[in-house]
Amino acid sequence: PLVTGIELLEDARRRDYAVGAFNVNNMEIIQAIIAAAEEERSPVILQASQGAIKYAGIRYIRALVLAAAEEAKVPVCLHLDHGPSFEQVMECLRYGFTSVMFDGSHLPYEENVRLTAKAVEAAHAVGVSVEGELGKIGGVEEEIRVEDWDVVLTDPEVVPDFVERTGVDYLAVAIGTKHGFYKGEPKLDFERLARIHQLMPDLPLVLHGGSGIPEEHIRRAIPLGVRKINIDTELRAAFVGKAREVMAAKPEEIDPRKILGPAREAMKEKVKEKMRLFGSSGKA
Ligand code: G3H
Ligand code: 13P
Ligand code: ZN
Repeated sequence: PLVTGIELLEDARRRDYAVGAFNVNNMEIIQAIIAAAEEERSPVILQASQGAIKYAGIRYIRALVLAAAEEAKVPVCLHLDHGPSFEQVMECLRYGFTSVMFDGSHLPYEENVRLTAKAVEAAHAVGVSVEGELGKIGGVEEEIRVEDWDVVLTDPEVVPDFVERTGVDYLAVAIGTKHGFYKGEPKLDFERLARIHQLMPDLPLVLHGGSGIPEEHIRRAIPLGVRKINIDTELRAAFVGKAREVMAAKPEEIDPRKILGPAREAMKEKVKEKMRLFGSSGKA
């Protein structure tokens, strides 16, 4: 069934695990993630990025996810990733998304507060939960590139004011993770994370740029309030890596299913690995 984001993250908070939020762009990816969730008995969040919306369109994404959620035994949440505008948040509400992110992290603080609060008011009116972002996460997404010098880590002391004034249900924090592949070891600021968690012990925190973070860092972050972990890059790599392997082994193959089928299978295994690491396996 389709459920709201806060339902999943509240359970994750009570039972101390994190829910994987995996980026989706097409049918095979959605099927890979849902199959992993079913096999692991894990709650799951499927999220649409700006690039996904451009590529597939909101209608296709919602239709595919709805088809998947309808027959799934595990709870599924459909989430808007990095929503840039009030208009897009409204569009997703209209199309039945059960969670939205309003990303005002590039705005001056007061603007971020004002626009996030507006998105929260609309979403809450129809029972949809909202993720906000405070600080600026590094790396590259479709529309936005944040260079290292431009990264702003989340100021813990500002978090209570932001959450109280906006009403967000969960918060993306910048503590050193980056979107995309890392060059070198990522450095997570655990002191910062611990302080945020100390100030707001009940607030579910969201870790973006979850790909490439060492497992022991993930295990350390979860008890410090991280309840949603976004993963895209590692899944892409698993999918395309397998497709490439099949095409190299069988250059004469022209049936897309013979290429995308194994890619889907490889991605499923990667998702299952993440679910076990996040502790969400067996929780649904
Ligand atoms: O937002 C994070 C995603 O990894 C960016 O994905 O290229 O589909 O926009 P995108
Ligand atoms: P990665 O691509 O680094 O896994 O980040 C995904 C993400 O944060 C989507 O919002
Ligand atoms: Zn992100």
